[in-house]
Formats: sequence, C-alpha cells, structure tokens
Amino acid sequence: MILCIEKILPPADLEIVLSKLETAEFIDGKVTAGWHARLVKQNTQLPKSPALTAIREMISVALQRHALFQMAVHPKLIRPVTVSRYQVGMAYGSHVDNAVMHDPVMRSDISMTLFLSDPATYEGGELIIESSQGETSFKLPAGAAVIYPSSSIHRVEEVTQGLRLAAVTWIQSWVRDPSQREILFDLDTVRQTLFETSGKTPAFDLIAKSHANLLRQWLEF
Ligand code: NI
Repeated sequence: MILCIEKILPPADLEIVLSKLETAEFIDGKVTAGWHARLVKQNTQLPKSPALTAIREMISVALQRHALFQMAVHPKLIRPVTVSRYQVGMAYGSHVDNAVMHDPVMRSDISMTLFLSDPATYEGGELIIESSQGETSFKLPAGAAVIYPSSSIHRVEEVTQGLRLAAVTWIQSWVRDPSQREILFDLDTVRQTLFETSGKTPAFDLIAKSHANLLRQWLEF
C-alpha cells in the first residue's frame, strides 16, 4: 500500500524546521547509502548537529501523534529522520533501500518521504516509485508525506530548478506483511466510519472484533 498523508508535520513545526535548515550546512549524502545505492545517490544531507537533533525530535513527536500514520503503519521502530537537500543537477537514481538498518538495529518494512519544500519553488525532484502496475510519481505539498513498502525500487528525479528539501525515514512495523497491513487499515477505516455514522452497533462490534483478532494473528514480537 502506498499512502499519502497531508500535514503529517503541522504547519507551525514545518516553519521551524525550514528556518533551521535555511542556515544549516549539508554534507555529501553518499556517507549513509548502501554500497550499490551510493553509485546513484547524488544529494546532500544534514550532518549530526543540534539542528538535526531538534528536527528529528519534532518529526518523531508528530508521527507518534498522527492517528492515520499509526493506523497505516503500526510502527514498532522508527528510525530518526535523515534530512536531504537536492540542489540543481542532483538526483537519486533507482535503488532499493537497505533491508537492515542500524541505530536502532531494525528491518525496514516501510519507507517514508516527508516533503519539506513548497513544490512551487522547485522543478523536478519527483519521487518515483515502481510497482507491478508501473511507475507512480509523487511531489507533495510541504508537510505531507508518502509512505510505501521499502521493498520497492524508487528514485528521485533530477532537480532542474530551485531546492528540494525532504526528510526520509524507515519503519519496522509490528505487521511485517504489506497486504496484511492493508487489510487492517481498511477494516480500521470501516470500523471508524461505522462508529461515526451509527455509533457502537452490533455491526461495529463485529468489525472491531475481526480487526482485533487479525491483529492478534499478525502482530510480530
Ligand atoms: Ni531510497
């Protein structure tokens, strides 16, 4: 399941993040890429710094508070974000993200790109995700994120004008299988809609029961 989530970072937080990045110095992004991704990674990223620590904390809190994100992802571990900056001529060619990550040691199930720059301020820089149905292109409003299976091949198109800032991270889910996560997400959506429209009816209870029991079957400890 690929899902776009608007305003995953509240506008006030986004403003603070952008102001911190305005004066920050960036380093070559190759330092954190796997050996094969390094061949196609051409961007810069924010090195360890008080600004990065603050941004990581803000985004971590925003993700913990975001009900739709929690419902879609069931996060067990969320890696602190990497903040990347693409200037004109920079791109990140087709690659698959590392399966195992460190600090913390985890499996990457879900990748997330949180767009920080206003899309009107740069050209190019689309995130392209490949799937069996073809390629899908994402260039979202500032503060919005796309989450997608880490198993997919993806790339960032060359930026031809302006500056593209984004925060990326990876999540290990309590539910490893993407199709199971999608079923849980659909059931949860129906469960909530039923509750909003008709309250706690017997139908609501049945859906809630199925959702809870599938979670019991599929949660990984
Ligand atoms: Ni990637």
